[in-house]
Amino acid sequence: MALVTTKKMFEKAFKGNYSIGAFNINNMEIIQGVVDACKKHNSAVILQVSKSALKYAHPAYITKMVEAAIEETGLDIALHLDHGADFEICKECIDYGFTSVMFDGSHFDYEENVAKTKEIVDYAHSKGVVVEAELGKLAGVEDEVKVAAGNATYTDPDQAVDFVKRTGVDSLAVAIGTSHGAYKFKGDAKLDFDRLALITEKLEAAGFHNYPIVLHGASSVDQNAVATCNQFGGQLKGAKGIPVEMLRKASSMAVCKINMDTDIRLAMTAAIRKSLAEKPEAFDPRGYLGEARKDIEAMVEKKIVDVLGSTNSMN
Ligand code: G3H
Ligand code: 13P
Ligand code: ZN
Repeated sequence: MALVTTKKMFEKAFKGNYSIGAFNINNMEIIQGVVDACKKHNSAVILQVSKSALKYAHPAYITKMVEAAIEETGLDIALHLDHGADFEICKECIDYGFTSVMFDGSHFDYEENVAKTKEIVDYAHSKGVVVEAELGKLAGVEDEVKVAAGNATYTDPDQAVDFVKRTGVDSLAVAIGTSHGAYKFKGDAKLDFDRLALITEKLEAAGFHNYPIVLHGASSVDQNAVATCNQFGGQLKGAKGIPVEMLRKASSMAVCKINMDTDIRLAMTAAIRKSLAEKPEAFDPRGYLGEARKDIEAMVEKKIVDVLGSTNSMN
């Protein structure tokens, strides 16, 4: 049991045709819900933290709670910075003890993304930390039409090879049709699996054997959770995510890390709304936060079994 990098996790996941869940954490109940599910299934896990989560919870609480999770569960856990915007935040997190950082330079022009990613890779590697970068732009919320028209935002397979070669980055987040948030598709869900296969094929041909690919914006937006939110006062109209079968297919290909935050938010909000509505006299936070933690755990268990296939990946 230890705080580990994603290196071995990804090697095993690629060979085993499964992927590792990367769950966004913001507080103790989320951490406990996630790791308790992983413990039950003996599954490796990545706990990831955004800049706004760091601001909300404070780095000392985050790092100490993750240490506590390792101690309590005996799991190997990777602590990862999600969507790092610049060198400074990546360095800060490396100095806090994170084992993995993402530099998201996808909004910069290509050469700038290469240069900035390389600078972070050099620093991170000198400290034994791994780096994820992003190439191609994920669609915005409810941006389906724009994506279909503008394939240019999808990851270019030749550019992916050049990018990995020149930056030495350890894993690559690609744009193949997923998007962040609860409103991913207006019509039918569509992911560009041919592009994903071509990226891997070209990376293999260039000597990058079993190169790990990352999928952001991969929540399924469980319709039961959406319905419960709406039943108890929420207003989530038309929320829709990535179908489970598509994520399972991606996991069986080169995708080794699947990012999920929205599904945690929905599970938590649904449980809290329901609990407060059904027990209007209750005001002990341990009641409704306990319900939220239980439902997060159940949701993550389903992810491990139905989406990731990471059961027993701790062995
Ligand atoms: O991709 C972004 C994650 O869902 C984190 O969101 O910056 O609101 O914590 P956040
Ligand atoms: P979702 O919004 O689909 O959960 O994606 C989360 C994510 O990609 C975090 O980096
Ligand atoms: Zn993301």
